[in-house]
Amino acid sequence: MKYRRLPGTEIDVSTIGFGCWAIVGDSTWGAQDEQEAIDGLKAAVDAGITFFDTAEAYGQGYSEQLVGKALNDRRDKLVIASKVSPSHFRPDELRAACDRSLANLGMDVIDLYQLHWPNRDIPVAETFGVCEELKQAGKIRAYGVSNYGPWDLSACEEASCPVSTNQVAYNLLFRAVEYEIQPVMARMGVGMLCYSPLMQGLLSGKFEHADAVPAGRARSRHFSSAREGTRHGEPGAEVETFDAIRAVRRIADTAGISMANLSLAWLLTRETVTSVICGARNPGQAKRNTEAAGISLSPDILRQLDEVTAHLKDVLGPNADMWMGSGNGARIR
Ligand SMILES: NC(=O)c1ccc[n+]([C@@H]2O[C@H](COP(=O)([O-])OP(=O)(O)OC[C@H]3O[C@@H](n4cnc5c(N)ncnc54)[C@H](OP(=O)(O)O)[C@@H]3O)[C@@H](O)[C@H]2O)c1
Repeated sequence: MKYRRLPGTEIDVSTIGFGCWAIVGDSTWGAQDEQEAIDGLKAAVDAGITFFDTAEAYGQGYSEQLVGKALNDRRDKLVIASKVSPSHFRPDELRAACDRSLANLGMDVIDLYQLHWPNRDIPVAETFGVCEELKQAGKIRAYGVSNYGPWDLSACEEASCPVSTNQVAYNLLFRAVEYEIQPVMARMGVGMLCYSPLMQGLLSGKFEHADAVPAGRARSRHFSSAREGTRHGEPGAEVETFDAIRAVRRIADTAGISMANLSLAWLLTRETVTSVICGARNPGQAKRNTEAAGISLSPDILRQLDEVTAHLKDVLGPNADMWMGSGNGARIR
């Protein structure tokens, strides 16, 4: 395993992190066996992962509880990140949400506390002020943001609010952050935590075509708005998405690397990336994903990956919201 520092902190995290959303087994992900989830979390630690990302929103606290249940006996070695929902950014609600997350986790401190999505009705300085207060009180060690675009990052900068990390959707099939967000983060020295690095499993190669993707996951802007549960109102890019998947698979096969590991290793070469937060639902996935940290990709493979995903990047454009269209309530600005 390799480690990188969260900017502006003294906290090092494994370059492959463990995302704890899918293990709640909700309407997006389908049923989950609890023991498999717990075994997966423990296997991840055994394989070298030290960084775990959860949120109060995942299963309404259940994900945090699972993390506590599985990992509390080795808490000292680990970096635990959680997130507060934007409906809880008012000072008293933020303090209460942090206490609730600590109770769910059964831990004394959250290492990285993240603002899950922007809330533009509340001044950012007020929210950051409470985060700083929580840090001084020893309840959190550092704080960051998630789903912040250039506009929200600039608002932080103008209010002199220091941003350590920004957690955003980034993978070979969703490169929207490259247009505007990554350059702003590079200039500000903000570290990127990449979410959905396997595009919710599409980059494992397990789905041959769009109809094979479970409805809960066929809601992103890759899929036609004719599909159940989509909210983006766009035509989608199903042909381009599966063309790109087939092309990535060919590159992976030639290189003798699994598609999933190729996709994770690619992210680790990208500017500003601090850690890649990958979901895993069982010990096997957790172990296999960890191997990506040790893979280095040649300039030729990087060039090929760029080429075969460039058209899809172009079609989906700079809107970094995976689920909402730019004419239909996109939340990232
Ligand atoms: N900040 C935010 O707004 C936000 C939004 C989304 C996610 N996140 C965070 O990012 C984390 C990861 O994103 P994600 O869960 O959306 O998507 P992801 O990491 O791209 O995909 C994870 C899913 O892919 C499948 N998978 C994982 N490893 C595999 C392997 N080696 N082989 C085959 N299949 C494999 C598993 O599902 P199956 O086995 O069921 O296929 C797993 O649940 C989340 O858990 C969460 O912590 C944050």
